[in-house]
Amino acid sequence: MDTIHIRGGNALFGETRIQGSKNAALPVLAAALLIEDTCVIDNCPRISDVHHMLMLLEGIGCKISRKNRSVTIDAGRVSDDIMSGENVTGMRSSITLLGAMLGRVGEITMAYPGGCVIGVRPIDLHISALRKMGVEIEEKENCFAAKARKLEGTVIRLPFPSVGVTENVILAAVGAKGITVLQNAAREPEIVTLCEFLRKAGAVIEGIGGSVLIIQGGHPLHGVRFQIPADRIVAGTYLMAAVGVGGHVFLKDAPSAQMQSTIKAAEQIGAEIAVSEDGLSVLSEKRKNPIAYLRTEVYPGFPTDMQSLIMPVLTTAEGISVIEETVFEDRLRIVEELKKMGACIEIQKKCQAVIVGAESLHGCEVSARELRGGAGLVIAGCMAQGETLVKNRHFIERGYEDICRDLQNLGVTIYTG
Ligand code: EPZ
Repeated sequence: MDTIHIRGGNALFGETRIQGSKNAALPVLAAALLIEDTCVIDNCPRISDVHHMLMLLEGIGCKISRKNRSVTIDAGRVSDDIMSGENVTGMRSSITLLGAMLGRVGEITMAYPGGCVIGVRPIDLHISALRKMGVEIEEKENCFAAKARKLEGTVIRLPFPSVGVTENVILAAVGAKGITVLQNAAREPEIVTLCEFLRKAGAVIEGIGGSVLIIQGGHPLHGVRFQIPADRIVAGTYLMAAVGVGGHVFLKDAPSAQMQSTIKAAEQIGAEIAVSEDGLSVLSEKRKNPIAYLRTEVYPGFPTDMQSLIMPVLTTAEGISVIEETVFEDRLRIVEELKKMGACIEIQKKCQAVIVGAESLHGCEVSARELRGGAGLVIAGCMAQGETLVKNRHFIERGYEDICRDLQNLGVTIYTG
Protein backbone atom coordinates (compact mmCIF):
# COMPACT_ATOMS: atom_id res chain seq x y z
CA MET A 1 0.00 0.00 0.00
CA ASP A 2 3.02 2.29 0.24
CA THR A 3 3.58 2.25 -3.53
CA ILE A 4 2.32 4.43 -6.37
CA HIS A 5 1.74 2.73 -9.74
CA ILE A 6 1.88 4.88 -12.88
CA ARG A 7 1.34 3.91 -16.52
CA GLY A 8 3.11 6.70 -18.38
CA GLY A 9 3.68 8.06 -21.86
CA ASN A 10 0.32 9.74 -22.44
CA ALA A 11 -0.21 13.50 -22.71
CA LEU A 12 -2.05 15.21 -19.83
CA PHE A 13 -5.42 16.87 -20.34
CA GLY A 14 -7.89 18.25 -17.80
CA GLU A 15 -8.16 20.47 -14.73
CA THR A 16 -7.09 19.95 -11.14
CA ARG A 17 -7.39 22.14 -8.06
CA ILE A 18 -4.22 23.13 -6.17
CA GLN A 19 -4.30 22.43 -2.42
CA GLY A 20 -3.33 24.85 0.35
CA SER A 21 0.35 25.48 0.91
CA LYS A 22 2.19 23.16 3.32
CA ASN A 23 4.98 25.65 3.97
CA ALA A 24 2.50 28.46 4.63
CA ALA A 25 0.14 26.39 6.82
CA LEU A 26 2.79 25.02 9.20
CA PRO A 27 4.14 28.37 10.49
CA VAL A 28 0.61 29.82 10.65
CA LEU A 29 -0.51 26.88 12.83
CA ALA A 30 2.52 27.48 15.08
CA ALA A 31 1.69 31.21 15.20
CA ALA A 32 -1.83 30.43 16.49
CA LEU A 33 -0.05 29.48 19.73
CA LEU A 34 0.69 33.16 20.32
CA ILE A 35 -3.04 33.97 20.43
CA GLU A 36 -4.95 33.25 23.67
CA ASP A 37 -8.12 32.92 21.66
CA THR A 38 -9.67 30.80 18.93
CA CYS A 39 -8.48 30.90 15.30
CA VAL A 40 -9.98 29.24 12.24
CA ILE A 41 -7.53 28.37 9.46
CA ASP A 42 -9.20 27.64 6.11
CA ASN A 43 -7.77 25.73 3.11
CA CYS A 44 -5.37 23.91 5.42
CA PRO A 45 -3.99 20.97 3.40
CA ARG A 46 -4.82 17.46 4.63
CA ILE A 47 -1.19 16.23 4.71
CA SER A 48 0.81 14.30 7.29
CA ASP A 49 3.05 17.23 8.23
CA VAL A 50 -0.05 19.25 9.18
CA HIS A 51 -1.41 16.26 11.12
CA HIS A 52 1.86 16.03 13.08
CA MET A 53 1.84 19.77 13.80
CA LEU A 54 -1.74 19.56 15.10
CA MET A 55 -0.74 16.63 17.35
CA LEU A 56 2.08 18.74 18.78
CA LEU A 57 -0.27 21.66 19.42
CA GLU A 58 -2.76 19.36 21.14
CA GLY A 59 0.09 17.94 23.22
CA ILE A 60 0.75 21.35 24.76
CA GLY A 61 -2.90 22.03 25.53
CA CYS A 62 -4.49 23.53 22.40
CA LYS A 63 -8.03 22.40 21.58
CA ILE A 64 -8.12 21.39 17.93
CA SER A 65 -11.02 20.49 15.65
CA ARG A 66 -11.13 19.92 11.89
CA LYS A 67 -13.95 20.16 9.38
CA ASN A 68 -12.78 19.28 5.86
CA ARG A 69 -9.95 21.78 5.24
CA SER A 70 -10.85 24.17 8.08
CA VAL A 71 -8.89 23.82 11.32
CA THR A 72 -10.12 25.46 14.54
CA ILE A 73 -7.44 26.07 17.19
CA ASP A 74 -8.23 27.27 20.71
CA ALA A 75 -4.86 28.16 22.26
CA GLY A 76 -6.43 29.70 25.38
CA ARG A 77 -4.40 27.46 27.68
CA VAL A 78 -0.99 25.99 26.82
CA SER A 79 1.60 24.27 28.98
CA ASP A 80 5.36 24.21 28.53
CA ASP A 81 5.49 20.42 28.39
CA ILE A 82 8.58 18.86 26.97
CA MET A 83 8.19 18.28 23.26
CA SER A 84 9.61 15.03 22.05
CA GLY A 85 8.64 11.98 20.07
CA GLU A 86 8.35 11.40 16.37
CA ASN A 87 6.08 14.39 15.84
CA VAL A 88 9.09 16.56 16.68
CA THR A 89 12.06 14.53 15.49
CA GLY A 90 10.27 13.36 12.36
CA MET A 91 9.22 16.77 11.18
CA ARG A 92 11.63 19.59 10.49
CA SER A 93 9.01 22.33 10.66
CA SER A 94 8.38 21.58 14.37
CA ILE A 95 11.28 24.01 14.91
CA THR A 96 8.88 26.95 14.39
CA LEU A 97 7.20 25.96 17.65
CA LEU A 98 10.40 27.15 19.32
CA GLY A 99 9.76 30.79 18.47
CA ALA A 100 6.02 30.53 19.13
CA MET A 101 6.44 28.92 22.57
CA LEU A 102 9.09 31.47 23.55
CA GLY A 103 6.75 34.24 22.45
CA ARG A 104 3.85 32.72 24.39
CA VAL A 105 5.19 31.10 27.58
CA GLY A 106 8.85 32.10 27.48
CA GLU A 107 10.29 28.60 27.58
CA ILE A 108 10.33 25.23 25.83
CA THR A 109 12.31 22.02 26.00
CA MET A 110 12.22 20.07 22.76
CA ALA A 111 13.96 17.32 20.87
CA TYR A 112 16.08 18.35 17.90
CA PRO A 113 13.85 18.35 14.80
CA GLY A 114 14.67 15.68 12.26
CA GLY A 115 17.20 16.11 9.53
CA CYS A 116 16.53 14.31 6.31
CA VAL A 117 18.33 13.04 3.25
CA ILE A 118 18.53 16.50 1.63
CA GLY A 119 20.82 17.77 4.35
CA VAL A 120 21.88 17.80 7.98
CA ARG A 121 19.37 20.61 8.63
CA PRO A 122 21.23 22.18 11.60
CA ILE A 123 19.53 24.73 13.86
CA ASP A 124 22.61 26.82 14.71
CA LEU A 125 21.19 29.95 13.04
CA HIS A 126 17.94 29.56 14.98
CA ILE A 127 19.83 29.32 18.25
CA SER A 128 22.18 32.25 17.57
CA ALA A 129 19.31 34.53 16.48
CA LEU A 130 17.17 33.74 19.54
CA ARG A 131 20.14 34.14 21.91
CA LYS A 132 20.42 37.72 20.61
CA MET A 133 16.85 38.26 21.91
CA GLY A 134 17.83 37.18 25.40
CA VAL A 135 16.93 33.49 25.10
CA GLU A 136 19.13 31.15 27.16
CA ILE A 137 19.52 27.87 25.28
CA GLU A 138 21.09 24.82 26.85
CA GLU A 139 21.92 22.14 24.30
CA LYS A 140 21.77 18.59 25.66
CA GLU A 141 22.31 15.13 24.24
CA ASN A 142 19.23 14.86 22.07
CA CYS A 143 17.18 17.84 23.14
CA PHE A 144 17.60 21.48 24.10
CA ALA A 145 16.04 23.75 26.70
CA ALA A 146 15.24 27.33 25.75
CA LYS A 147 14.25 29.91 28.36
CA ALA A 148 13.65 33.63 28.01
CA ARG A 149 13.36 35.46 31.31
CA LYS A 150 12.70 38.53 29.23
CA LEU A 151 12.34 38.27 25.47
CA GLU A 152 13.66 41.56 24.15
CA GLY A 153 13.49 43.11 20.72
CA THR A 154 16.87 43.81 19.10
CA VAL A 155 18.58 44.15 15.71
CA ILE A 156 19.38 40.79 14.10
CA ARG A 157 21.18 40.33 10.79
CA LEU A 158 20.92 36.80 9.38
CA PRO A 159 24.07 35.44 7.71
CA PHE A 160 21.74 33.59 5.31
CA PRO A 161 18.07 34.36 4.54
CA SER A 162 16.86 31.15 6.19
CA VAL A 163 13.09 30.61 5.91
CA GLY A 164 12.75 28.81 9.24
CA VAL A 165 14.97 31.21 11.16
CA THR A 166 13.03 34.17 9.75
CA GLU A 167 9.79 32.54 10.90
CA ASN A 168 11.15 31.80 14.37
CA VAL A 169 12.42 35.35 14.89
CA ILE A 170 9.07 36.81 13.76
CA LEU A 171 7.17 34.55 16.19
CA ALA A 172 9.45 35.35 19.12
CA ALA A 173 9.54 39.08 18.25
CA VAL A 174 5.73 39.39 18.27
CA GLY A 175 5.77 38.16 21.88
CA ALA A 176 8.89 40.14 22.87
CA LYS A 177 9.19 43.51 24.59
CA GLY A 178 10.24 46.30 22.24
CA ILE A 179 11.12 46.43 18.55
CA THR A 180 12.97 43.77 16.55
CA VAL A 181 14.66 44.67 13.26
CA LEU A 182 15.41 41.56 11.21
CA GLN A 183 17.88 42.16 8.38
CA ASN A 184 18.53 39.74 5.48
CA ALA A 185 15.18 38.11 6.23
CA ALA A 186 13.88 35.41 3.87
CA ARG A 187 11.37 36.80 1.33
CA GLU A 188 9.56 33.56 0.46
CA PRO A 189 5.76 33.94 -0.01
CA GLU A 190 5.27 31.78 3.07
CA ILE A 191 6.90 34.51 5.17
CA VAL A 192 4.48 37.06 3.72
CA THR A 193 1.54 34.77 4.58
CA LEU A 194 2.78 34.38 8.17
CA CYS A 195 3.12 38.16 8.56
CA GLU A 196 -0.33 38.75 7.06
CA PHE A 197 -1.86 36.25 9.52
CA LEU A 198 -0.14 37.92 12.50
CA ARG A 199 -1.01 41.42 11.29
CA LYS A 200 -4.68 40.39 10.95
CA ALA A 201 -4.51 39.17 14.58
CA GLY A 202 -3.22 42.57 15.75
CA ALA A 203 0.57 42.32 15.39
CA VAL A 204 2.49 45.34 14.07
CA ILE A 205 4.95 44.27 11.35
CA GLU A 206 6.47 46.52 8.69
CA GLY A 207 8.48 45.68 5.56
CA ILE A 208 6.43 42.57 4.72
CA GLY A 209 7.78 40.93 1.56
CA GLY A 210 11.15 42.67 1.85
CA SER A 211 14.44 41.62 3.39
CA VAL A 212 14.17 43.99 6.38
CA LEU A 213 11.30 43.29 8.77
CA ILE A 214 10.43 45.58 11.70
CA ILE A 215 8.30 43.90 14.36
CA GLN A 216 6.82 45.83 17.29
CA GLY A 217 6.39 43.30 20.09
CA GLY A 218 3.82 43.26 22.87
CA HIS A 219 0.68 44.26 20.95
CA PRO A 220 -2.39 42.28 22.12
CA LEU A 221 -3.46 39.57 19.66
CA HIS A 222 -7.00 38.33 19.00
CA GLY A 223 -8.46 35.27 17.26
CA VAL A 224 -8.91 35.46 13.48
CA ARG A 225 -10.25 33.46 10.55
CA PHE A 226 -7.55 33.11 7.86
CA GLN A 227 -7.26 31.43 4.45
CA ILE A 228 -4.05 29.57 3.50
CA PRO A 229 -3.00 30.37 -0.11
CA ALA A 230 -2.50 27.64 -2.70
CA ASP A 231 0.76 25.71 -2.70
CA ARG A 232 3.23 27.09 -5.28
CA ILE A 233 5.35 23.93 -5.21
CA VAL A 234 2.41 21.56 -5.68
CA ALA A 235 1.26 23.77 -8.58
CA GLY A 236 4.81 23.67 -9.94
CA THR A 237 4.77 19.87 -9.65
CA TYR A 238 1.74 19.45 -11.90
CA LEU A 239 3.00 22.18 -14.23
CA MET A 240 6.22 20.20 -14.72
CA ALA A 241 4.30 16.94 -15.22
CA ALA A 242 2.43 18.58 -18.13
CA VAL A 243 5.66 20.01 -19.56
CA GLY A 244 7.36 16.64 -19.21
CA VAL A 245 4.89 14.55 -21.13
CA GLY A 246 3.03 17.20 -23.15
CA GLY A 247 -0.64 18.14 -23.11
CA HIS A 248 -2.96 20.94 -22.07
CA VAL A 249 -3.96 21.36 -18.42
CA PHE A 250 -5.54 23.97 -16.15
CA LEU A 251 -4.29 24.30 -12.56
CA LYS A 252 -7.10 25.92 -10.59
CA ASP A 253 -6.05 28.41 -7.88
CA ALA A 254 -2.35 28.11 -8.84
CA PRO A 255 -0.59 31.14 -7.24
CA SER A 256 1.03 32.30 -10.50
CA ALA A 257 2.36 35.55 -9.01
CA GLN A 258 4.57 33.47 -6.68
CA MET A 259 5.73 31.14 -9.47
CA GLN A 260 7.49 33.53 -11.86
CA SER A 261 10.87 31.74 -11.87
CA THR A 262 9.15 28.35 -12.29
CA ILE A 263 7.01 29.69 -15.17
CA LYS A 264 10.10 31.21 -16.82
CA ALA A 265 11.91 27.85 -16.68
CA ALA A 266 8.88 26.04 -18.14
CA GLU A 267 8.72 28.58 -20.99
CA GLN A 268 12.46 28.11 -21.65
CA ILE A 269 11.73 24.39 -22.11
CA GLY A 270 9.04 25.34 -24.63
CA ALA A 271 5.72 25.36 -22.74
CA GLU A 272 3.09 28.03 -23.33
CA ILE A 273 1.77 29.33 -19.99
CA ALA A 274 -1.34 31.47 -19.66
CA VAL A 275 -2.08 33.10 -16.31
CA SER A 276 -5.64 34.01 -15.32
CA GLU A 277 -7.37 35.17 -12.15
CA ASP A 278 -8.41 31.69 -11.11
CA GLY A 279 -5.35 29.73 -12.14
CA LEU A 280 -2.78 28.86 -14.72
CA SER A 281 -2.97 26.90 -17.97
CA VAL A 282 -0.11 24.96 -19.54
CA LEU A 283 0.12 23.96 -23.21
CA SER A 284 3.12 21.78 -24.01
CA GLU A 285 4.45 19.65 -26.87
CA LYS A 286 6.40 16.43 -26.33
CA ARG A 287 9.55 18.02 -27.80
CA LYS A 288 11.49 20.01 -25.17
CA ASN A 289 14.40 22.46 -25.15
CA PRO A 290 17.22 21.92 -22.64
CA ILE A 291 18.19 24.60 -20.10
CA ALA A 292 21.92 25.24 -20.42
CA TYR A 293 22.29 26.30 -16.77
CA LEU A 294 19.76 26.58 -13.96
CA ARG A 295 20.65 27.22 -10.31
CA THR A 296 18.42 27.08 -7.27
CA GLU A 297 18.30 30.25 -5.21
CA VAL A 298 16.36 31.85 -2.39
CA TYR A 299 13.14 33.61 -3.40
CA PRO A 300 12.46 35.04 -5.94
CA GLY A 301 15.06 32.81 -7.63
CA PHE A 302 14.32 29.30 -8.86
CA PRO A 303 13.13 27.38 -5.75
CA THR A 304 15.23 24.53 -4.36
CA ASP A 305 11.95 22.66 -3.84
CA MET A 306 11.38 22.73 -7.62
CA GLN A 307 14.80 21.24 -8.45
CA SER A 308 13.75 17.57 -8.17
CA LEU A 309 10.59 18.40 -10.10
CA ILE A 310 12.23 19.96 -13.17
CA MET A 311 15.07 17.45 -13.39
CA PRO A 312 12.90 14.58 -14.74
CA VAL A 313 11.52 16.94 -17.40
CA LEU A 314 15.03 17.75 -18.68
CA THR A 315 16.01 14.07 -18.96
CA THR A 316 14.28 13.88 -22.37
CA ALA A 317 15.03 17.42 -23.60
CA GLU A 318 16.87 17.76 -26.92
CA GLY A 319 20.31 18.66 -25.58
CA ILE A 320 22.38 19.10 -22.41
CA SER A 321 21.06 20.82 -19.28
CA VAL A 322 22.91 21.69 -16.07
CA ILE A 323 21.17 22.16 -12.71
CA GLU A 324 23.12 23.51 -9.73
CA GLU A 325 21.68 23.06 -6.21
CA THR A 326 22.92 25.90 -4.01
CA VAL A 327 20.59 25.75 -0.95
CA PHE A 328 20.88 22.20 0.43
CA GLU A 329 24.06 20.17 0.47
CA ASP A 330 22.63 16.79 -0.49
CA ARG A 331 19.56 17.31 -2.65
CA LEU A 332 20.47 15.36 -5.80
CA ARG A 333 19.48 11.87 -4.55
CA ILE A 334 16.80 11.60 -7.23
CA VAL A 335 19.55 11.23 -9.88
CA GLU A 336 20.29 7.58 -9.01
CA GLU A 337 16.59 6.67 -9.33
CA LEU A 338 16.15 8.55 -12.62
CA LYS A 339 19.18 6.71 -14.07
CA LYS A 340 17.37 3.41 -13.40
CA MET A 341 14.64 4.73 -15.75
CA GLY A 342 17.14 5.44 -18.54
CA ALA A 343 18.09 9.03 -17.73
CA CYS A 344 21.63 10.12 -18.59
CA ILE A 345 22.78 12.29 -15.66
CA GLU A 346 26.16 12.81 -14.03
CA ILE A 347 26.76 14.61 -10.74
CA GLN A 348 29.69 17.02 -10.66
CA LYS A 349 31.13 18.81 -7.61
CA LYS A 350 28.40 17.17 -5.42
CA CYS A 351 25.98 20.01 -6.27
CA GLN A 352 25.72 20.03 -10.07
CA ALA A 353 23.69 17.62 -12.21
CA VAL A 354 24.64 17.44 -15.90
CA ILE A 355 21.69 15.99 -17.82
CA VAL A 356 22.11 14.69 -21.39
CA GLY A 357 18.68 14.43 -23.02
CA ALA A 358 17.64 10.83 -23.77
CA GLU A 359 15.07 9.60 -26.30
CA SER A 360 12.69 8.49 -23.56
CA LEU A 361 12.46 7.05 -20.04
CA HIS A 362 11.28 3.52 -19.33
CA GLY A 363 9.15 2.49 -16.40
CA CYS A 364 10.63 0.48 -13.53
CA GLU A 365 10.60 0.24 -9.73
CA VAL A 366 12.12 3.28 -7.99
CA SER A 367 12.20 4.49 -4.39
CA ALA A 368 11.32 7.88 -2.96
CA ARG A 369 13.74 8.99 -0.25
CA GLU A 370 12.19 12.37 0.61
CA LEU A 371 9.24 14.54 -0.29
CA ARG A 372 10.11 16.44 -3.47
CA GLY A 373 12.38 13.72 -4.84
CA GLY A 374 9.45 11.34 -4.50
CA ALA A 375 7.16 13.72 -6.37
CA GLY A 376 9.84 14.07 -9.06
CA LEU A 377 9.79 10.28 -9.55
CA VAL A 378 6.02 10.44 -10.05
CA ILE A 379 6.60 13.03 -12.80
CA ALA A 380 9.19 10.70 -14.36
CA GLY A 381 6.61 7.89 -14.17
CA CYS A 382 4.10 10.05 -16.09
CA MET A 383 6.76 10.53 -18.80
CA ALA A 384 8.09 6.95 -18.96
CA GLN A 385 7.01 4.26 -21.39
CA GLY A 386 5.35 1.40 -19.47
CA GLU A 387 4.67 1.05 -15.76
CA THR A 388 6.61 2.75 -12.96
CA LEU A 389 6.34 1.81 -9.29
CA VAL A 390 7.31 4.57 -6.85
CA LYS A 391 7.90 3.04 -3.41
CA ASN A 392 7.75 4.88 -0.04
CA ARG A 393 4.64 6.87 -0.87
CA HIS A 394 4.58 8.13 2.74
CA PHE A 395 7.32 10.65 1.94
CA ILE A 396 5.10 12.20 -0.74
CA GLU A 397 2.09 12.31 1.58
CA ARG A 398 4.02 14.72 3.81
CA GLY A 399 3.32 17.50 1.29
CA TYR A 400 0.69 16.30 -1.19
CA GLU A 401 -2.93 15.71 -0.11
CA ASP A 402 -3.48 13.13 -2.86
CA ILE A 403 -1.05 13.20 -5.79
CA CYS A 404 -2.90 10.27 -7.42
CA ARG A 405 -6.27 12.07 -7.28
CA ASP A 406 -4.75 15.27 -8.70
CA LEU A 407 -2.97 13.54 -11.58
CA GLN A 408 -5.97 11.28 -12.36
CA ASN A 409 -7.88 14.57 -12.88
CA LEU A 410 -5.30 15.32 -15.59
CA GLY A 411 -5.80 11.96 -17.28
CA VAL A 412 -2.87 10.04 -15.79
CA THR A 413 -3.31 6.29 -15.15
CA ILE A 414 -2.06 6.30 -11.55
CA TYR A 415 -3.10 4.53 -8.35
CA THR A 416 -1.77 3.36 -4.99
CA GLY A 417 -1.31 -0.32 -4.28
C1 EPZ B 1 12.05 25.64 4.46
O1 EPZ B 1 12.97 24.80 5.14
C2 EPZ B 1 11.06 24.72 3.78
N1 EPZ B 1 10.37 23.91 4.80
C3 EPZ B 1 11.79 23.79 2.82
O2 EPZ B 1 10.80 23.01 2.15
C4 EPZ B 1 12.51 24.64 1.78
O3 EPZ B 1 13.25 23.79 0.93
C5 EPZ B 1 13.46 25.62 2.49
O4 EPZ B 1 12.71 26.41 3.43
C6 EPZ B 1 14.14 26.57 1.51
O5 EPZ B 1 13.17 27.28 0.79
C7 EPZ B 1 9.30 24.44 5.43
O6 EPZ B 1 8.93 25.59 5.21
C8 EPZ B 1 8.59 23.56 6.40
P1 EPZ B 1 16.21 27.14 5.41
P2 EPZ B 1 14.04 25.47 6.18
O7 EPZ B 1 16.35 27.40 6.86
O8 EPZ B 1 13.40 26.60 6.89
C9 EPZ B 1 20.70 25.93 6.30
C10 EPZ B 1 9.79 21.09 1.37
O9 EPZ B 1 10.12 20.39 0.43
N2 EPZ B 1 20.46 26.22 7.73
O10 EPZ B 1 15.90 28.30 4.51
O11 EPZ B 1 14.64 24.39 6.96
C11 EPZ B 1 19.97 24.67 5.87
O12 EPZ B 1 20.70 23.54 6.26
C12 EPZ B 1 10.81 21.59 2.34
O13 EPZ B 1 8.62 21.51 1.56
C13 EPZ B 1 21.55 26.19 8.61
O14 EPZ B 1 22.68 25.92 8.21
O15 EPZ B 1 15.12 26.03 5.15
C14 EPZ B 1 19.90 24.83 4.38
O16 EPZ B 1 21.13 24.44 3.81
C15 EPZ B 1 12.16 20.94 2.12
N3 EPZ B 1 21.34 26.43 9.93
C16 EPZ B 1 19.71 26.34 4.22
O17 EPZ B 1 20.11 26.94 5.46
C17 EPZ B 1 20.10 26.74 10.41
O18 EPZ B 1 19.98 26.99 11.64
C18 EPZ B 1 18.27 26.75 3.90
O19 EPZ B 1 17.51 26.34 4.97
C19 EPZ B 1 19.02 26.78 9.52
C20 EPZ B 1 19.22 26.53 8.18
